[in-house]
Amino acid sequence: MDKLLIRGQRRLKGEVTISGAKNAALGILPAALLLSDVCTVENIPNILDIAILRRIMESLGARFIDIDENTLRVDATNVSSYTATGEDMHRFRGSYYLMGALLGRFKKAVVTFPGGCNFGSRPIDQHIKGFEALGAKVEIEHGHIKLTANKLTGANIYLDVVSVGATVNIMLAAVKAEGITTIENAAKEPHIVDIANFLNAMGADIKGAGTDIIRIRGVRELKGNVVHCIIPDMIEAGTYMIAAAATRGDVLVKNVIPKHMESLSAKLVEMNVKIQEYDDSIRVWAKDRLTRANIKTLPYPGFPTDLQPPAAVLLLQADGISTITESIFDNRFQYIDELKRMGAKARVEGRMAVIEGGSKLTGAPVKALDLRAGAACVLAGCVAEGITEVSNVSYIDRGYERMVEKLNSLGADIRRVSDSDGT
Ligand code: EPZ
Repeated sequence: MDKLLIRGQRRLKGEVTISGAKNAALGILPAALLLSDVCTVENIPNILDIAILRRIMESLGARFIDIDENTLRVDATNVSSYTATGEDMHRFRGSYYLMGALLGRFKKAVVTFPGGCNFGSRPIDQHIKGFEALGAKVEIEHGHIKLTANKLTGANIYLDVVSVGATVNIMLAAVKAEGITTIENAAKEPHIVDIANFLNAMGADIKGAGTDIIRIRGVRELKGNVVHCIIPDMIEAGTYMIAAAATRGDVLVKNVIPKHMESLSAKLVEMNVKIQEYDDSIRVWAKDRLTRANIKTLPYPGFPTDLQPPAAVLLLQADGISTITESIFDNRFQYIDELKRMGAKARVEGRMAVIEGGSKLTGAPVKALDLRAGAACVLAGCVAEGITEVSNVSYIDRGYERMVEKLNSLGADIRRVSDSDGT
């Protein structure tokens, strides 16, 4: 495992370009398995989760041709296996989309339970509820989920909780089902719309993605030779917007869709951060004192749960007491203990973190406990006095393309070293 050595108290200035959305790519690549043909996907982020997903899909018979670092041609013509049970499946959450894609193509799937960041229980009961409603039999044995269906038939499915993964997985299984499927209480994240747009470009008939009612009319076949460009990653974009504000810098965040950032932009303005929106970029700068704020995470278009760890670093710089209420996951404040090692004054009360502003952060050895917690540690290191050492960097590599290069291009001072040599 590598670690990062970060020399803090550097104002981030300049321009940073955002990569393609991880959580769109993790749905779009499995969606290509529905096709016995070729398609091209552009603006794929070059991150660890995608590399692992690609390895799993190749083991199923898919072939990938690298057009460039962020463009892939996917040939799923010879995909013959519907069994994905290797250990890679458990290394990240996004592997769960192979359930819907393989069920949609073969009416069968045998997959290992997905992994994913450890912030509380991550059930998949709503995914299974959707698959069963479409006519699949679901058996769980030896840590594998076995899905079989004689036929997939459209159904009305009401999600008991707003679930990004379940919404996408049901879409994947329903696009070739007979008849109409309705997903009610669907998640509305931009990456869900992007995945639906990709499926529709292949000839699927999906309406309402981005609203809480999605209607899918099953089609017999999908068509290939589609070229799809993935939307910008709103969570990566938000991470850099917060980094600019937390370091009192001035950064133009490029290749973003400002509408996707509205909940964060509004919160930053509330905190006395300056925001200037352009067509596909947002300038963020902060010179004056920051005002405290309360954040409550909610499904899109509310404040994204994936941005609350980085946001905590910003709240630590504000005047007064702020709070973060985490309404999506039941244990997503473990990173607070790492920030406390840097001098953060904060306490966690159930699903709420109470954050004392004006906390002087000093460099310390901290661990990336998950992907976004790791980003929070890096941002705290950029703010802190002295050197911060962030270990478990592979968590960060899972979801942020070239984060060290991007931050250093903005004036950060970060070195990546091998953890084994202890330098
Ligand atoms: C997706 O996770 C993202 N991951 C997460 O991003 C993100 O935090 C989350 O959506 C919320 O936006 C991917 O897209 C790969 P959910 P997912 O199903 O699908 C409960 C990152 O850092 N639930 O929307 O697992 C669940 O426990 C990652 O990029 C059920 O109860 O999230 C949670 O409380 C972290 N039953 C809530 O719903 C289910 O069957 C929302 O989870 C499914 C979910």
